[in-house]
Amino acid sequence: MNETRRAILEALTDGPVSGPALAENLDISRAAVWKHIEGLREAAFEIESGPDGYELAAVDAYNAPAVEFELAAPFSVEYHDSIASTNNRARELAGEGATDVVVLADEQTGGRGRLEREWTAPSGGVWLSVVCRPDIAPARAPLYTLAISVATARAAREAGVDAWIKWPNDVVVPTDDTGDYRKLSGILTEMEGETDRVEWIVVGPGINANIDADALPAGATSIREEAGDVDRRRFVQRLLAEFDRYRTDLEAVVPAWRELALTLGQRVRVDRPAGELVGEAVDVTGSGALVIETDDGRVTVSAGDCEHL
Ligand code: BTN
Repeated sequence: MNETRRAILEALTDGPVSGPALAENLDISRAAVWKHIEGLREAAFEIESGPDGYELAAVDAYNAPAVEFELAAPFSVEYHDSIASTNNRARELAGEGATDVVVLADEQTGGRGRLEREWTAPSGGVWLSVVCRPDIAPARAPLYTLAISVATARAAREAGVDAWIKWPNDVVVPTDDTGDYRKLSGILTEMEGETDRVEWIVVGPGINANIDADALPAGATSIREEAGDVDRRRFVQRLLAEFDRYRTDLEAVVPAWRELALTLGQRVRVDRPAGELVGEAVDVTGSGALVIETDDGRVTVSAGDCEHL
């Protein structure tokens, strides 16, 4: 957002400010103040004009300026009402050298899941992809995925959902105490780099937010179903602030992940390229791999599809 507009909004959050006072404090003309106020109203911001001046009454939109305003993390936002896939667009931006950009959409027409699956992404969800250029080795990249799953689960809990994480990174809602669940969110992480260095990483969480269950695949749930509709602007802001906190402190990711893990202590089946494994999930390693106690001893699995038995 333009710096003058940001400064106007900040001034208005503390109460009414007159047009002449804004013009003087920002060193612009009164006509320019009026033009910026109109621009802000068109973008997302409900600005009332009363006897004491302009006042910010509400932020009533889900778009780039609305999400960037009061965002406690250094990301810029690119918003689309509809796009094929936010991950595709984020990859494009990453290829052009972008960093710390969030691609956000109301609807995806070609959403992509893990393992080349399709991802249903109707209007009302939270579909986003974050472009980062971290100075880390590729082996540490899974921590970014775990970090965003922690961030998603925390934001969902704040919205009133009993959210947990199923290894490696699905956010799920338990249906009883046997380990059964419905899926609320999945994450598609893609990256490019060399053997010792990540060039860019795109972390793409998809959260079934304000969506009816019958618009979702079997086994999925939504924030609407679990707790009622959420303010998506606030939800995304919370998610990005949590993600930013963990990506800058990667050592804290696994301990935070463990606290939210539904998988630990469960009997699981993991489908991995080297074959299927069955046993009890007993721990995660510092890089996010799952440790399984099998009949033949402990095995560490760094990637695969995990099912609770
Ligand atoms: C999965 O569980 O298979 C991962 C699903 C990831 C979906 C999200 S929605 C935002 C981003 N854009 C995509 O095309 N996919 C991810």
